[in-house]
Amino acid sequence: MSVFEVERSGPLKGSVRVLGDKSLTHRAYLFAAMAQPGVPSIIYQPLNGADCESTLKCLVDLGADADHFEAGEQGADAMTMVFAPERWTSPEGVLDCGNSGTTMRLLAGILAGRPGLEATLVGDASLSKRPMGRVATPLRLMGASVDGDTPPLTIHGQHLRGIEYVSPVASAQVKSCVLLAGLAAQGETWVREPSLSRDHTERMLESLGVNLMRDERGVGVVGGATWAPFTFTVPGDISSAAFFAVAGAMIPGSEVRLTNVGVNPTRSGLLEVLEAAGANVTLEGLREDSGEPVADLIVRGDRDLKAFEISGDLVPRLIDEIPVLAVLATQCRGRTVIRDAQEMRVKESDRIATMAQGLQRMGADIIVHEDGMEINGPTTLTATEVEASHDHRIAMSFAIAGLVAKGTTRISGAESIQTSYPDFQEHLRTLQGR
Ligand code: S3P
Repeated sequence: MSVFEVERSGPLKGSVRVLGDKSLTHRAYLFAAMAQPGVPSIIYQPLNGADCESTLKCLVDLGADADHFEAGEQGADAMTMVFAPERWTSPEGVLDCGNSGTTMRLLAGILAGRPGLEATLVGDASLSKRPMGRVATPLRLMGASVDGDTPPLTIHGQHLRGIEYVSPVASAQVKSCVLLAGLAAQGETWVREPSLSRDHTERMLESLGVNLMRDERGVGVVGGATWAPFTFTVPGDISSAAFFAVAGAMIPGSEVRLTNVGVNPTRSGLLEVLEAAGANVTLEGLREDSGEPVADLIVRGDRDLKAFEISGDLVPRLIDEIPVLAVLATQCRGRTVIRDAQEMRVKESDRIATMAQGLQRMGADIIVHEDGMEINGPTTLTATEVEASHDHRIAMSFAIAGLVAKGTTRISGAESIQTSYPDFQEHLRTLQGR
């Protein structure tokens, strides 16, 4: 198990281009495999993290083909070419989704409606504990054959019928799974969710020419849509940018530019919270690329920070950023309140428990609730040894806490960072001028 040591840091300065968005890379790979076969789809600047590699590997096991080119090899930008299968085939072994909930849940929706296909989806120790009933239940209502409510999931492809599904959770993975199954189902499939979750699936489908139906409470598809191979440029991941944005806001004298970051409004709750905390954040060069809004974020550490609140509809718009925002809260004056965030408990780790325990060990003043926490600040954190709990975002959040803690913070299980941000340590060193 690798240990990452972090020392208290001086100001962060300079510019980094964060890696490609994880959600969008998964979707681009999956949708490329679902395109008409023949010529490849080309995905520019994909995330090369372990999660997206899991998706690609599963697709290859199902009959797709893929080639990856590093920047400079076949042009200026890194790219992955994905050839859709001529025929989707049942894999010989299990489909290994690794640590990736997106891979398992979206693939389940794609495979459920392919009669004759059989596949078993497995995951690592963390994914094996995560709830899959949330996708198996609607798929079964559509006529799917899915064994298991936690991994492994065995799917026997069937003819599906459209449903109207009222999801109890605001989850883009559930919504996307049902919509993708709906593309192979008879009739209309609708998904309603309690708050709007990230809409990357909807945007990408529309950009591929698929007609979506919308009303005030949800989104629907009609079965039978097909699309041609495509090109897609993946914007930088705002969930990765969040680590350096928070560090830049917390460390006085910092000036950090994060280029080419996706700022889709269903993902950009981070920016609203930074503003509410009084941080100095500006967006430059707002533009649209491949149907997604993209901008450079500039964060300066020149303001006093105050406590903030996260609850309600804001939660799904920053669900993956709450761990690092909890770190921010320890440096803000007043009582930060995070509620309605029970979904954090079923991520790669129980993120309420893992963050609260680690930050408390570092001296933070935290009250834990079932659906969130209250954090009183500011506190001077003291470095200690913390455990990443097989969770990339927890590892990186503790690294950011380590930048403002007295002493040397040791993060064990830091290899999990490979999941979503293999260049994290290098980008941190760049911003530290090392
Ligand atoms: C994701 C959606 C979110 C997020 C996850 C990726 C996606 O999960 O936490 O990291 O790619 O759709 P839920 O939609 O289940 O909340």
